[in-house]
Amino acid sequence: MMKREHWGSRLGFILAAAGSAVGLGNIWKFPYMAGVNGGGAFLLIYLALVFTIGLSVMLAEMVIGRMAEKNAIGAFKKLKGGAWPLVGLCGVAAAFMILSFYSVVAGWTIAYMVKAVTGDISSSDPAVLGAAFGGFISGNVSPLVYHAIFMALTVFVVLSGIGSGIERASKILMPALFVLLLILIIRAVTLPGAGEGLAFLLQPDFSKVSWSTVSDALSQAFFSLSLGMGAMITYGSYLSKKENIAGAAGWVTLLDTAVAVLAGLLVLPAVFAFGFDPAAGPGLTFITLPAVFAQMPFGEFFAFLFFLLLAIAALTSSVSILEVVVAYFVDDRGISRKVASVVMGAIIFVLGIPSSLSMGIMADTKFFGMTFFDLMDFLSSKLLLPIGGLFISLFVGWVVWGAAKADIAAHNGQIPVWINAWGILVKFIAPAAIAFILIQGLVG
Ligand code: PHE
Repeated sequence: MMKREHWGSRLGFILAAAGSAVGLGNIWKFPYMAGVNGGGAFLLIYLALVFTIGLSVMLAEMVIGRMAEKNAIGAFKKLKGGAWPLVGLCGVAAAFMILSFYSVVAGWTIAYMVKAVTGDISSSDPAVLGAAFGGFISGNVSPLVYHAIFMALTVFVVLSGIGSGIERASKILMPALFVLLLILIIRAVTLPGAGEGLAFLLQPDFSKVSWSTVSDALSQAFFSLSLGMGAMITYGSYLSKKENIAGAAGWVTLLDTAVAVLAGLLVLPAVFAFGFDPAAGPGLTFITLPAVFAQMPFGEFFAFLFFLLLAIAALTSSVSILEVVVAYFVDDRGISRKVASVVMGAIIFVLGIPSSLSMGIMADTKFFGMTFFDLMDFLSSKLLLPIGGLFISLFVGWVVWGAAKADIAAHNGQIPVWINAWGILVKFIAPAAIAFILIQGLVG
């Protein structure tokens, strides 16, 4: 049997896992979810969930992956079998759905790169920017072309293999995105009227909180940290025994959260400064940021750079989603990486078409009261990811706990002091809290 490929270095793994986590979830989704859910209170609940449930599920996934050295389904099969591989199967299903609409939105970022250069979005007028965005995403052709371009890029990176493609890209580009965000925040928070946006994000108003706020925060945490569908199981499977995965899980969680908070500090002050509506939904980042660029020297250059880096951040995430699917077909079905990448990429592209058209000719075609785009988001982020996280916690806490502890101890020759706290989290707190929030979110 071929020896499993491993990450080139410890930093390589952290950057690739952070590359998976940091993406549209942070910069496109987080600000509008915070906007829709009233700001500060959402942020606080989000942070609380990330550093308890999120961090412990992240560690659980990485341990499962490393112990099994297998894909999301194969790992459960190898470690226990029975009905457990179904958890991985749900993950693969979630991967199909998420990537289908993720690629559509990522296509928008590529389109906005082009629009930054052609000057189509050089305005600070909410009406002009709203119309430019609405006009573009409701089209029948152009958004699909960009969706196709993005899927093709994703397929290309995945079929070129683990070490070379993903690792190299993440190393340079993530820090660049971070720095650019900082520069943009300085511009955004010094705009007249931006203070109101800062207050919106930083002063919690708990009177607006409901169970649906909490369940939105939970699903956002899973989505943003790439948890609940086996992405971190798959990446962990390429990890060597020597690595300190607790450190890696901590760093990835911290970096991902930092980028989300930065994106919030960028988008929401600008929303208030220019008089946009914070509850505008999925268009928020795309409509608001061009107004910020228009107020900067070299605005078109910054706009281009921003959407370029965002597209690349999206790519390092989409690659990890497609990898969940491809690793399964390569490991367990004996299909070549090339064929699996191309065929699965094509299927996911087709599944994304109705999501894209949901913004236009299919806007009135409703499934359970939702557009196709919203349905895919709901089924994957709101249901499958938290349910996956619940069972992943139970699996580590109750089924392979001894082996998981031994695997972690193998790194430094002793059982770390925090392991019992983590045990309580994965055994009791995370599963109970996820189940409770899921049920309250659905009925309330
Ligand atoms: N975490 C990625 C983002 O925030 C999206 C993602 C979700 C990636 C699930 C992998 C698995 O953009």
